[in-house]
Amino acid sequence: KMKLAVLTSGGDSAGMNAVVRSVVRAGILKGCETWIVREGYEGLVRGNVDAQNVNKDPPTIPLPLNGADADLINNLRFGDGELLLDGTGDHPGGRTLIGRYIVRVGWDDVRGWFAQGGTLIGTARSTAFRTVEGRLAAAYNLIKEGIDALVVCGGDGSLTGADVFRSEWPKLIAELRSQGKDMFLPPIARHGHLKIVGLVGSIDNDMSMTDLTIGAPTALHRICEAIDNINSTAASHSRAFVLEVMGRHCGWLALLAGVSAGADFIFIPERPPETNPWEDEMCDAIKRHRKVGKRKTIVIVAEGAHDSLLQPIRAEYVKDVLTDRLGLDTRVTTLGHTQRGGRPCAFDRILPTLQGVEAVNALLEATPEKPSYMIGIRENKITRVPLMEAVAMTRAVADAIAAKDFTKAMSLRDPEFCE
Ligand code: F6P
Repeated sequence: KMKLAVLTSGGDSAGMNAVVRSVVRAGILKGCETWIVREGYEGLVRGNVDAQNVNKDPPTIPLPLNGADADLINNLRFGDGELLLDGTGDHPGGRTLIGRYIVRVGWDDVRGWFAQGGTLIGTARSTAFRTVEGRLAAAYNLIKEGIDALVVCGGDGSLTGADVFRSEWPKLIAELRSQGKDMFLPPIARHGHLKIVGLVGSIDNDMSMTDLTIGAPTALHRICEAIDNINSTAASHSRAFVLEVMGRHCGWLALLAGVSAGADFIFIPERPPETNPWEDEMCDAIKRHRKVGKRKTIVIVAEGAHDSLLQPIRAEYVKDVLTDRLGLDTRVTTLGHTQRGGRPCAFDRILPTLQGVEAVNALLEATPEKPSYMIGIRENKITRVPLMEAVAMTRAVADAIAAKDFTKAMSLRDPEFCE
């Protein structure tokens, strides 16, 4: 019986809960034992404190609910899910167990999770997991529970971590053996192989070799709604608005927000303005639009935007240019984390549900010879691509931008869209 665990890592995104729900339920339907890891890789590193030690060794991460005690931990109901979703506490998922980061879950534990924003099992950007010692602890904590398969949902950094962990696994097991910590080793260490599959959860849509990342459609929808709202007040006052949107080094959210809600000028990292300095180019475009009767101006700035010399373009500076050169009454709106939180749109429920099923299938078919896979979507079909290839190609986009080869960056990001 395969014991599989699912974790969410890096910045949260809408749809991560649907991933957990789908992986857990598909796993159960396929005869697996299903677990979740709380707080991303940090939870793997911390593992489960033994029940008798729970009060002696409290975790240092602030947890959503501090009411759990040794009694509760001693009285866990194994077999029908330990997550005990009783609706108490300020964590929407309910009670959280102190000292237990790797928790067995059942069918009912994930009921209705497709509709919840954020990630109910928590996420973190773990520095400990970046160290070999951290990964050694993570390996030990996994084998202690007999878990030999892992689904990681996160962005490119999290998926790189997944692949490093898998390729290091035989070394980590050998080290645990040499430390005499091998009492838990059979049966999963027998084959010396950790099965890992990645699902891309990120609002940025910045992963290569997949058309869409989980959470990006919801974030885009959020931005569109914000622009719709801004449009009416902007037109009333004949004002200009500069909107800063998220996306890290990727311009997808900015570009598609412009396409779906309208914009006069858009700054994205992959394709900086054609001229440098760029102020005239932007002002000329906006003057043209105003001349034909537009009462409002919308400029979208991706947070990673820069000019062709890689100098950052900041929303506040764009505002000053619009005010000083065009005399426009201009405001800046930074949408921030409103783009990331909240209920997933329908597609951010459908995509993770389909991909979660595929992730479980990929784990069941995994062999040491096959690469770890990333589950993607291409032309409306759920796909499996080698995890490392996708990560390498994503890195190549960043490298092309750093080398000021913007044509290459655009074509690597999305060849079809460029055409
Ligand atoms: O990667 C997702 C993302 O929301 C980016 O768009 C943004 O740059 C970053 O995370 C913000 O991170 P934090 O949650 O640490 O503020």
